[in-house]
Amino acid sequence: MQKIVVLTGAGISAESGIRTFRDSDGLWEEHRIEDVATPQAWHRNPELVLEFYNQRRKQLLSAQPNAAHFALNRLADFFDVHIITQNVDDLHERSGSKNVLHLHGELKKCRSTSDASLIYDVKGWELKMGETCEKGSQLRPHIVWFGEDVPQIIEAARIASTAEIFVVIGTSMKVYPAAGLLDYVPQYSPKYLIDPDAPTISWISNLEIIKEKAGKGLPVLVEKLIKQLH
Ligand code: APR
Repeated sequence: MQKIVVLTGAGISAESGIRTFRDSDGLWEEHRIEDVATPQAWHRNPELVLEFYNQRRKQLLSAQPNAAHFALNRLADFFDVHIITQNVDDLHERSGSKNVLHLHGELKKCRSTSDASLIYDVKGWELKMGETCEKGSQLRPHIVWFGEDVPQIIEAARIASTAEIFVVIGTSMKVYPAAGLLDYVPQYSPKYLIDPDAPTISWISNLEIIKEKAGKGLPVLVEKLIKQLH
């Protein structure tokens, strides 16, 4: 099977009702990154940080995967599909997709502040101060904050470098190292970018830009790729 690697960002979940970060109604319009998404924010005001992610988790529990998530699931019937997502939601998994690598962590998980290998599921939507790991340390959201290492980037770059087709969906490509993954994709591999407000990445070869919402543009691209097989 041909290998398709897909890089997704907040835009693929927008039609599920989950807000993106940098659009005009995005989360970073309402919250300052320095207040809720850095290690310093956690040290200064952990309650505020927990509340920010509790609200995100609450919203996620009532969201459903959309046509774009399901289209990727269909693609996997015909191709060896690997999804690298910057999203912390679980909508890829809930639509049935396998091989999902979460670069920036997972909203429904938490981890120990003293031992990063101790990772747990969050029960319900709320994580509170006083909730501890088995060693007695406070639990924090299992999220990669700004200024923290992105441990999965090495594996993501390895996967990107083996892509025979690469598809980017709904990301402003403003956050590194994720945005740099395109540089690992072989030059000759066809690349597609689906985003109604697609960022300019003119230095990438073999790139087709599809200026559509994911829920419309992706099902069309998936059918085109499947048809090319016959
Ligand atoms: N379909 C496809 N793309 C869409 C849609 C849609 N329906 N709606 C919006 N978009 C696009 C926007 O045009 C924009 O280019 O999704 C992109 C969202 O960009 P960002 O909000 O910057 O999200 P993302 O690129 O995923 O952010 C990267 O930044 O704050 C951090 O950790 C957070 O993982 C996140 C990272």
